[in-house]
Amino acid sequence: MALLLTNQSAAKKATAEIDAVVGTSRLLQESDLAGLPYLRCIVSETLRLYPLAPNHVPHEASRDCVVAGGHAVARGTMVLVDVYSMQRDPAVWGQRPDEFVPERFMDDDGGVGGRRDGGSRWMMPFGMGRRKCPGESLALRMVGVALGVMLQCFEWEPEGGKEVDMSEGSGLTMPMATPLVAVCRPRAEMESLLKAL
Ligand code: HEM
Repeated sequence: MALLLTNQSAAKKATAEIDAVVGTSRLLQESDLAGLPYLRCIVSETLRLYPLAPNHVPHEASRDCVVAGGHAVARGTMVLVDVYSMQRDPAVWGQRPDEFVPERFMDDDGGVGGRRDGGSRWMMPFGMGRRKCPGESLALRMVGVALGVMLQCFEWEPEGGKEVDMSEGSGLTMPMATPLVAVCRPRAEMESLLKAL
């Protein structure tokens, strides 16, 4: 939501997609997500720029091994994966890796995926391998539906028209340094549905 408040054109594009696919006579639901590629791209791009666990959680090498770049890792070493840097590497993501560009996840045919999607080795906000997050599928659906319904039903703006501070706080997870405060107004075309809920 913070990224959409600072990138209103992406918010408008997602709302237009929702209006075209879901309409305004019912609420967006989980089964709609398959037909909302741009909304899913917004979620992917957000997890790329702001992975919940920027260094994942510590793991221990179970045997001696050599990882990318020829670095030897001895058995028993604590390993942290710098997902934050990987997901902003200009060699992978282009010259402006710090910019919010959901379109980078769109395939030519309007689908979501390609080698840079959440399952590729260039992006791993949910981890990878045996200890990968078991909640990935649930999380993507919940975030998609929650964000989608908020866009479908309301217009959003930062409180008092203030600029959103996107700087990051510290910790194992990555909170916003300044918590987001936003104001919402029901969209005119959704008012009758919202009143009936
Ligand atoms: C956007 C939301 C979420 C993100 C970004 C996320 C990310 C992660 C990450 C990075 C890990 C560590 C993977 C590793 O060890 O390398 C993890 C582990 C885990 N996550 Fe999530 N997660 C999310 C939501 C959820 C949800 C909704 C659930 C449960 C319903 C969940 C359950 C777990 C569990 C149980 C583990 C530990 C797995 C293990 O150590 O074997 N997560 N998650």
